[in-house]
Amino acid sequence: MPDGHAEKPIAFIDLDAQRRRIGARMEEALLRVTRSGKYIMGPEVFELERQLAQFCGAKHVLSCSSGTDALALPLMAWNVRPGQAVLCPAFTFAATAEVVAWLGATPVFVDVIEGTFNLDPVSLEAGIETAKRLGLKPVGVITVDLFGLPADYDAILPIAEAHGLWLLDDAAQGFGASYKGRKLGTFGQMTATSFFPAKPLGCYGDGGAVFLDDDALHDVLLSLRIHGQDKDDKYENVRIGMTARMDTLQAAVLIEKLAVFEDEIAARNLVAERYNEALQDVAIVPRIPEGLTSVWAQYTLRAPGRERAKILAALKAESIPTAIYYPKPLHRQTAYAKYPVAGNGLPVSERLAAEVFSLPMHPYLDHATQDRIVAATRRALAA
Ligand SMILES: Cc1ncc(COP(=O)(O)O)c(C=O)c1O
Repeated sequence: MPDGHAEKPIAFIDLDAQRRRIGARMEEALLRVTRSGKYIMGPEVFELERQLAQFCGAKHVLSCSSGTDALALPLMAWNVRPGQAVLCPAFTFAATAEVVAWLGATPVFVDVIEGTFNLDPVSLEAGIETAKRLGLKPVGVITVDLFGLPADYDAILPIAEAHGLWLLDDAAQGFGASYKGRKLGTFGQMTATSFFPAKPLGCYGDGGAVFLDDDALHDVLLSLRIHGQDKDDKYENVRIGMTARMDTLQAAVLIEKLAVFEDEIAARNLVAERYNEALQDVAIVPRIPEGLTSVWAQYTLRAPGRERAKILAALKAESIPTAIYYPKPLHRQTAYAKYPVAGNGLPVSERLAAEVFSLPMHPYLDHATQDRIVAATRRALAA
């Protein structure tokens, strides 16, 4: 008989375990900022940007207030506007398309590949044609590195280039992962990430960053981050911007977390390998294509032909937390249903939304706890 109720509760993401590891240094860093009084654009903000650039190989890093703002700032820098289309996957978090709609442009939803959950290059081509047919000007594509796995850049970048589109990588879930030896942050013209607490690299509130190589675009982003201010005269606003700074306190948190990030990525990969080994005969487990690495923002299974609600209810009965990312693709959601989809529809996004479920995943998942999760999952799938 499963005895899950008698044991300690299982966390879906155990941030407390991380805090136990780095808590003392973290508290010291926070106290240092508190005492410094430099709450806005303090030295930690610039130090973090330097370290993040070094970590992923991007020339410039612009820290900011959230992952959503990290997506919005590049679009503002490119002057994305009504009449323009931006291609993005439908199987993602709303923020990916939300920023396009903010600016009055049209998100055109593209399907994903079943095996990777990431943007399908064939559907991307179809989406570009759909946009043109509707009289829109396709200007860019936003790729998403869903659940921590990089999108197929060798296939997508040439398509973007052939059609004169910029590529913005939404690496909110994938920052830290690599594609054929290169870390995310260096693909396309710009990359955005999120430091939301549940992300593989998360702060203690909201935060994000933009990564890029282009000096001129970096200057524009610096200005947009602080109300469109002029480079030399901060009371001369030269464009319409926003308040998108990262708090110094969050930068201090991230500096401490970045110090253990590589180690945590390795631990996440061991957890994923153990899950794959133990569950591959009862479910479709996530496979990482040759030459890529994942940071496992989520560990996501599929059990086609099975009733997902029953599986999740069985896991809940054994106190195993689960989540569904995402129960509805964007083109099926109220706010986004009016936007076009590539070609004749997005069957893969719809199928995945109906089938996927995610198990607890974090770098501090010990073997005994993982074994409980695996045993309960196997029972749930056998029922
Ligand atoms: C794919 C994706 N894009 C964008 C975001 C937005 O990030 P934030 O919540 O930091 O605004 C998230 C996370 O929430 C995400 O998962």
